[in-house]
Amino acid sequence: MARIPVSVIEEIKERCLIEDVVSRYVSLKRAGSNLTASCPFHSERTPSFVVFPATQSFYCFGCGAGGDVISFLMRIENLEYPEAIRRLAETVGVSVPEDDGAPGERTVPRKRLFEMNTEAARFYRGMLFDERIGAEARRYLSGRGLSQAVIKRFGLGFAPDDFSMSRHMRSLGYTEDELVTGFLMKVSERTGKPYDLFRGRVMFPIIDTSGRVIAFGGRVMNGTEPKYLNSSDTPVFKKSRNLFALNYAKDNCSEEMILCEGYMDVISLHAAGFGNAVATLGTALTPEQARILAKYTKRVILTYDSDAAGQRADERAIGLLSEVGLDVRVLKLNGAKDPDEFIKKYGPDAFREALSGSSTTFRYKLGSIAGKHDISTEEGKIRALREVSEYLAGTGSEVEREIYIGQASDFFGVSRESIKNDVSLIIKKRRYAKKKTEAADIAREAAGFGDRVNRDKLTQLRTASCEESVLGMLIAYPEYIKEVVEGKTALTADDFGTEFGRRVFTAVTDVYRENGAFDVGAVGGDFTPDELSRIVKLAIGREKLGNGREVFDENVRALLAERERQRSKEDDAFSAIMRLREKNNGNT
Ligand code: GTP
Ligand code: MN
Repeated sequence: MARIPVSVIEEIKERCLIEDVVSRYVSLKRAGSNLTASCPFHSERTPSFVVFPATQSFYCFGCGAGGDVISFLMRIENLEYPEAIRRLAETVGVSVPEDDGAPGERTVPRKRLFEMNTEAARFYRGMLFDERIGAEARRYLSGRGLSQAVIKRFGLGFAPDDFSMSRHMRSLGYTEDELVTGFLMKVSERTGKPYDLFRGRVMFPIIDTSGRVIAFGGRVMNGTEPKYLNSSDTPVFKKSRNLFALNYAKDNCSEEMILCEGYMDVISLHAAGFGNAVATLGTALTPEQARILAKYTKRVILTYDSDAAGQRADERAIGLLSEVGLDVRVLKLNGAKDPDEFIKKYGPDAFREALSGSSTTFRYKLGSIAGKHDISTEEGKIRALREVSEYLAGTGSEVEREIYIGQASDFFGVSRESIKNDVSLIIKKRRYAKKKTEAADIAREAAGFGDRVNRDKLTQLRTASCEESVLGMLIAYPEYIKEVVEGKTALTADDFGTEFGRRVFTAVTDVYRENGAFDVGAVGGDFTPDELSRIVKLAIGREKLGNGREVFDENVRALLAERERQRSKEDDAFSAIMRLREKNNGNT
């Protein structure tokens, strides 16, 4: 990927301050000239996450996550580098040069894909309302209880069982390549030619919160397989980061949201007056989706199918949703397999009633643990209680634990005291175990073992630490990069012994050469989030130690000397081998 120019990154950063972006996710408290918060990237009690407005960077002294506003967004929204830049650029109105891709690989501009999807949705809708072509599909949808108004609101359509979509799209100027990139066509493995993906299906457009059509789901109207076909990821669609109907639900959900499995569930719920329903896109809930939900609402009610698979999905979703601070409830529907069926059978009022009785996560947990053991026997009960205690030892605040212990005691008919004792014993054991592993980690880190970012540190501890000082100063004070690039300070990539050090040095000097300026944001595409964190940590470490010409010169000198020492050691070893060989040759 071509590097995004420093000027663009600087412009973005000028218009969106890191403190503003970060405060959308965590609440920042002022501490002198910096701001602190509880780290959003690991769980902690005392805040060790710091935002430095002066350098527009962040660093967590607890978990080591760090970077600039771009890497913050990459981490928290789990985005790729170019995507994070584009997001920021879009919000502040800076234009980013389109990525021209690797040579030989053409990419379709996102704007073009959005327009293409909109045209396709328009085509499918036209087919649905075509007197003759759409008759069967209209019958199917009304048979499932959808009114004309609901069909229109969700932009539903029909893909005929032929190749008329691609014919139509080509007549509008879209190429087969573009249609393949947008997942409307697919290249046949058998013939090597692209064909229309959605055929003979009722179409559900997936619309993002900006109202753009980003993908499609299509359902067959008979029993053929697969029942649903969903778009794969494209440059404008990541199924792990979108939710069906969030474009509508986002305005109806400040208190709670209903999370379903299927498109039809969501549409039925909206039609019945529950405008806060959304669904995942044919996959299990992802951490990104959990974070998105947490941005919009306080409580999520899960309405997954009640079969075994649904129960596993519940457990997973409860974990992800609680982790992002949401209050989670589980709705078990009696007499129907999903919300759509329930509403058809019993009506909206019954659903509303069921909602108000949705159990809190813990009650649900109690039920599912009890279901796993035969609690009519003593041993079964003991095992179930043990599992409950293990669970309680890992959850929430003391107050919450107190409440849950009460519920568990009522549920199993055992005293609060005994459950409480079990739980605190487990907590103590875990604390002890954790201390032990932490101590081991610190020891390993100190010895340079297990440095996942700079793997060569283990074998080149001294070189690595000299490199860190030099790189830290270069990044913290770009005036030194200038000297290096102009040759005033003799330093080249070869003077770096570790692979990580070499890569950082090369990226930093390349950016300076290309732009005559430097910004950490500009190297983001070349490194993983962990590597970026390390880079920022180096710079922050230097800022604490202070700046000065002599300091920089001294650090460079130390690095060169260390490398010289390494080389001569290698040379010594080399000449020793040579001497040995000569001796051996002489003997024969
Ligand atoms: P119907 O009521 O039968 O239309 O479906 P549903 O909404 O009850 O869906 P179901 O519970 O069968 O599946 C839930 C979701 O899983 C659907 O909305 C799809 O996104 C996805 N899904 C279902 N079947 C398939 C399939 O065959 N392939 C893929 N890729 N996804 C599917
Ligand atoms: Mn259904």
